[in-house]
Amino acid sequence: MRLDKFLAEASVGTRKTVRTYVKEGKVIVNDQVIVEPAVQIDPIADVVKYLSKEVIHTGKLYYMFHKPAGCITARKDAKSKTVLDYFENVNINGLFPVGRLDKDTEGLLFLTNDGDFNHQLMCPEKHVEKKYFFWAFGALHSEDKKRLETGICIGEDETLTKPAKIEVLKEGMYHELKNEMDIGKFINKKKNLYEQSVISGYLTISEGRKHQVKRMLKAVGCYVVYLKRISIGGIMLDKSLEKGEYRVVTEQEIQKLIENQGCIGSWQDEEAGINRN
Ligand code: URA
Repeated sequence: MRLDKFLAEASVGTRKTVRTYVKEGKVIVNDQVIVEPAVQIDPIADVVKYLSKEVIHTGKLYYMFHKPAGCITARKDAKSKTVLDYFENVNINGLFPVGRLDKDTEGLLFLTNDGDFNHQLMCPEKHVEKKYFFWAFGALHSEDKKRLETGICIGEDETLTKPAKIEVLKEGMYHELKNEMDIGKFINKKKNLYEQSVISGYLTISEGRKHQVKRMLKAVGCYVVYLKRISIGGIMLDKSLEKGEYRVVTEQEIQKLIENQGCIGSWQDEEAGINRN
C-alpha cells in the first residue's frame, strides 16, 4: 500500500496534507525518515510513525449511535459532553459525526472517518431523507401541512425548504396527552401550557439546515418540545440501541446509504422506539 494512502486512511490527514507531511520529513517507517509519499509499505508488518507517534491503520469506520439529549454533536467541547465521549474501546482518532443534531435532539447519528461517506449523506443534491419524530405545542391545519409538504419560508434570505413529508400521529390537549410526552422538566416551568393543544408526528426532510425541523414547525405555529431522528436514507435507528449506545454499521446498510435507494427495515413505530398509544 502507498504510504500516503495508509496515512490518509489512518486519519492523519487528507491525501493532500499527508503528502506534505511526508515531504516535510514528519513520517518515519521502521526508524527511517521517508520523504516519498508514493513509497510502498506493508500496513501490517511496517511500523509507521507520524511526529514520533505510531500510526494505527484502522481502515474505514462506520458507527450507528443513539444520541441522547444533553450532548453536543462535535468532536470536542470545553463545557459539555460530546457524542465522542460515549465511545469507549474505539479508536476515535479521525472519527467525526455525519451532520449534526441539536443538543436537545435524540436519535440516529452516524459517525465515521470516511469523508466520502459523509459527503454522500450530507450533500444537498443527494436528497437523502431524514425522518424525525416530534412532539410540539400547537396544531396543524391542512393548509399548514400543504405548506410543509411543498416548501415553506423559515428565515429571511433563505430559499423555501424542499418538499417534505408530514404525518400526524396524535392531536389533543396537553392534559390529555401529557403522559405520553416525556417533557416533564419543560412543562413544570410552564404550567400555563396545561390547556394547550399538542401534536405528535413524523416530519421527513431531505436537507440539513440548522434547526430545520424546529424552524419548519415553528413557521406553522408549532413549538417543538421533543425531537428524535429515527432514520436516515431509509436506515432506521436500531431499536436494540439504548440512548448513548452505538454499534458498527453493517456492510449492507453502508451500501444502501451510499446507493440511497430507499428503506431498509420497517417504518414501524415499535422499531423506532416510539410509543404511539
Ligand atoms: N432539525 C432540528 O430542528 N434539530 C435537529 O437536531 C435536527 C433537525
